[in-house]
Amino acid sequence: MKKQLISLIHQQLKELFASYGIEDYGFIDVQVPPDKANGDFSLNAAMKLAKAAKCAPQKLAAEMVARLETEKDWFSRVEMAGPGFINLYLADRVIENSFNELSAQASIVEQVSAGGEKTVVDYSSVNIAKQMHVGHLRSTIIGDVLARVIEALGNPVVRQNHLGDWGLPMAMVIWKAEPEIAAIEKRGADLTSELTLARLEELYKSASAECKENPATATVCHDYLVRLQQGDKALLDLWHKIIRISMAEVYRIYRLLDVKLFEENERGESYYRDMLADTVAEVAKSGKLVESQGAQCVFLDEFKGKDGSPLPVIVQKSDGGFNYGTFDLAGLRYRTATLGAQRIVYVTDARQALHFKQIFAVARAAGILAVPDVKLEHVPFGTILGEDNKPLKTRSGENVKLADLLSEAVERAYQVVNEKNPGLSEEQKQQVARTVGIGAVKYADLSQNRNNDYVFSFDRMLALNGNTAPYLQYAHARICSIFRRAGLNIDEFTAAAVISQREERDLMVKLMEFSAAVSAVAAELRPHILCNYLYELAVCFSAFYDKCPVLSCEDEKVKASRLMISSFTRRTLAKGLELLGISAPREM
Ligand code: ARG
Repeated sequence: MKKQLISLIHQQLKELFASYGIEDYGFIDVQVPPDKANGDFSLNAAMKLAKAAKCAPQKLAAEMVARLETEKDWFSRVEMAGPGFINLYLADRVIENSFNELSAQASIVEQVSAGGEKTVVDYSSVNIAKQMHVGHLRSTIIGDVLARVIEALGNPVVRQNHLGDWGLPMAMVIWKAEPEIAAIEKRGADLTSELTLARLEELYKSASAECKENPATATVCHDYLVRLQQGDKALLDLWHKIIRISMAEVYRIYRLLDVKLFEENERGESYYRDMLADTVAEVAKSGKLVESQGAQCVFLDEFKGKDGSPLPVIVQKSDGGFNYGTFDLAGLRYRTATLGAQRIVYVTDARQALHFKQIFAVARAAGILAVPDVKLEHVPFGTILGEDNKPLKTRSGENVKLADLLSEAVERAYQVVNEKNPGLSEEQKQQVARTVGIGAVKYADLSQNRNNDYVFSFDRMLALNGNTAPYLQYAHARICSIFRRAGLNIDEFTAAAVISQREERDLMVKLMEFSAAVSAVAAELRPHILCNYLYELAVCFSAFYDKCPVLSCEDEKVKASRLMISSFTRRTLAKGLELLGISAPREM
């Protein structure tokens, strides 16, 4: 509708602009005014063109209004406002037609043109032998939504789980876990069920402590690292087993969270191990590599220390080893050269902002990107806080395990469901509790502007009122129940929508804004834009449902129209929730 409207405006005003000698007006766009009382769209073109037209904006606007007013099929009213704004009030027929056209389409997300942009989303990126804690929640779910949204718009997406699976910590766990693994295998027991990720984490922690205390242990572990890096078969075998044990637990949580990461998305640091020396050589070729205190560094003007001294980006350590950044540089080459990425999105907490700035700058300065104009974006996010406004911890001061947090959410959701709808079967209650509990945790996070820290509160996220997952899920279930009561199949129902009341019109207009909200999430990499949209949509539906009787409506045509608007609202809520990775129950 917006596109058609803009081309109509261009067409209609062409002559007028020509008479003023204006040729360049293709950029003219319409805005949605924040206050609905100012029309469906507004136009600030008169102010923008006044200078070129050598005429007062208000005079130009008045002439534009006169021309647009002749489009009676399109506009019910066209008026000038303030210093030269033009407010456009669409005719109900235009809204009805566009709505009916959209609701007949197979996809309600408008596709980007020309096959889209090949996009790599690097998210979750957990470390082996460490349990996922709340810190990983944000990268995992924000990244998952961004991947879903970018993909839904028609861009090919490659998800990459950049596992921390190479380097000294791995050598330490291997060293410490070796006897335990041998004992389990000797007994002929199943390794994955005997050795848990929690145990691996314990082993890692004690190995790390021992290395600090005892230089001899540190030497042994360093030895293990060298052997591992040289491809020692026995160590690689242990390494592989430890990764699988670790990831088995991670996948259990991914499935619980309904996050679309699978084994094929694993591209850990180890994947780049044979590309590191080459990457440093490539940087050297550019002439940007400088040796400083034995390390290979790149100095760029934009990075200065607090005292103004140049800050190096180290790409190879003085002992010849590679660091976190080297892996990312190698990853950039691989992602552009092999995956053909045109856009790469990294989702990690805000503390890594400088790291990514540096890596992106070095990669560009050294010219190692196979797609030189690839867009590189770091998506930082804030911290999850406890009720005390400090980073969320358990009572004993430990990191909160994600698995524990999710179980508690489901338990609490069960209480809510049980209270709200005691008539459901036990099985249904548990099903809904899972959907609502997990959905609530995800939504509470996604609905925040990601740059902010936020306070984690079960009570708030599980509330049935306000901007929460349960509120949206309940709106969805309520619409389904209208159709159940009428004995109609909501998925197959179609009818023409007509406007007989303001609330119907408002809801239809809101529904047509869905695709724009989805595009905005992909452009700004901010899931909360979609959350806000869905919340406003649900509020809009509530207002409609209050004022416009559906099943008891006597006019058959209006009744069918209201059912249609309701079913399309359900479809939009479900699609929006799906893009957020949250299920939409039909009953709750
Ligand atoms: N494993 C890292 C961590 O836990 C995150 C990796 C993010 N991705 C990347 N390409 N550096 O901090």
